[in-house]
Amino acid sequence: MASTKPQKKFRKKILCIGAGYVGGPTMAMIALKCPDYIVTVVDINEDKINSWNSGKLPIFEPGLDEIVRKTRGKNLFFRTDIEQQIRDNDIIFVSVNTPTKTFGSGAGYAADLQFVEKTARLILENSTSPKIVIEKSTLPVKTALAMERILMSGKGRVKFEVLSNPEFMAEGSAIKDLENPDRVLIGSRETAGGIAARRLLVDIYARWVDTGKIITSNIWSSELSKLVANAFLAQRVSSINSISALCEKTDADISEVAKAVGTDSRIGGKFLVAGVGFGGSCFRKDILNLVYLCRFYGLQEVADYWESVVKINEYQQERFIINILGKMFNTLAGKKICVLGFAFKANTGDTRESPAIYITHRLLAECAEVVISDPKALENAAIVMADTTGKLSYEENPYEAVKGCHAIAILTEWSLYKELDYKKIFRAMAKPAFIFDGRNIIDHEKCYKIGFNVYPVGKPALSHFESRV
Ligand code: NAD
Ligand code: UGA
Repeated sequence: MASTKPQKKFRKKILCIGAGYVGGPTMAMIALKCPDYIVTVVDINEDKINSWNSGKLPIFEPGLDEIVRKTRGKNLFFRTDIEQQIRDNDIIFVSVNTPTKTFGSGAGYAADLQFVEKTARLILENSTSPKIVIEKSTLPVKTALAMERILMSGKGRVKFEVLSNPEFMAEGSAIKDLENPDRVLIGSRETAGGIAARRLLVDIYARWVDTGKIITSNIWSSELSKLVANAFLAQRVSSINSISALCEKTDADISEVAKAVGTDSRIGGKFLVAGVGFGGSCFRKDILNLVYLCRFYGLQEVADYWESVVKINEYQQERFIINILGKMFNTLAGKKICVLGFAFKANTGDTRESPAIYITHRLLAECAEVVISDPKALENAAIVMADTTGKLSYEENPYEAVKGCHAIAILTEWSLYKELDYKKIFRAMAKPAFIFDGRNIIDHEKCYKIGFNVYPVGKPALSHFESRV
């Protein structure tokens, strides 16, 4: 393992606990922008750390390999000796997972904070010098209070300052987002110690982020803003998806509606792309967490309002399946369906909460045979679908995957799917051939002319026989 011995030449020592989708890229960016700081990332998962130290990183993220190549072994280190690293570092980011609780009180809604709490206890047990502990994970508002109470239980032996610095990067564009963020948010206690710690973190980001984009706030506002930002983004997706259902009933076109609505500068055009529903590890979990918090504080109407965002997302996925079933003559049994794209969005191999998981399960439940294709997510797809029964196979090459299929369901907006030779694909498929474009990315008119029956989301269907039925 790489040594951290030459520490004297470094001006600051930064540790991150949790080497996942957030910990890895964010620390790689700090290491790149602050060559005079030494940045160490630790994790309990030894395989993951080995992978960060290898030629094949544990996550696919455009531009990440290059940054890791430039910094790893110089001022960026991936290690498993967590306790030692806590002793050696005074600035500690906590970037562990905060999934939805699956047990006990709040199951299905509240955040499972056991990993965060274990980290706080580990920091307390191994600290002999003052530390700044930074919440990088997405956490329910008031978590910092619990962190402080655990850290202070050492009876003032060591001084701790807790900051909140939520991460707003999106997967697939993480490097771009980290390099040029819309904003960096830093929350602290408004005490002299809190303000001093906050200033120290501002100085780190100010190495490459315009100071006008570095927002400081009280610690609770910072924690809550992260949940609210995700809830607002997801709400836009659910809003446009709900309207896509109405478009399908009225021959309006959701892309035209989104453009007309989004060009109003008060509304804005981003996050108005209708599709099969949002996925990813955070939107659902963070909204449900917000719902839980609202109910906890007795705000039932507010909770119901935000829960409806998740309900529309579930409705959109189910609607997609019901449409496939209906258009394919109400039976999928024995039919072969190619799922094109399994990642929850393009440019990532991440399949967490991907709509493709639910849709594939539903196709298998209808006794269809499913072939999954994806340029980056097949390994994760196989893991997530491992316990599934039914006829399921994996094929990276889309031309092989579609052979003998009755239908294609496009579930991820990989740009390569726009460029495919759909004439060749049509020839390889069973007839009548169907395309259900869950991301509205292919040329629908062209595919219709080739002979496909084309069903986009929120747009008129292009069917060769429907008008005659
Ligand atoms: P992840 O599951 O990819 O990574 C978390 C890592 O923490 C895992 O590797 C796990 O082994 C490690 N870990 C857990 N307990 C540990 C412990 N006690 N000591 C050391 N390591 C430990 O999760 P992620 O996607 O990186 O998300 C982390 C947090 O950031 C979550 O709160 C998430 O909501 C938030 N977030 C995620 C994204 C994203 O795009 N994935 C973006 C913004 C914020
Ligand atoms: C999202 C937020 O965008 C980040 O700011 C946040 O940091 C992150 O969650 C997090 O906290 O984890 P991410 O989930 O990686 O990032 O990806 P998004 O680009 O937000 O997409 C989420 C889902 O919404 C995807 O399934 C995507 O396909 C879908 N989506 C997005 C749409 O269906 N339509 C849109 O217009 C936009």
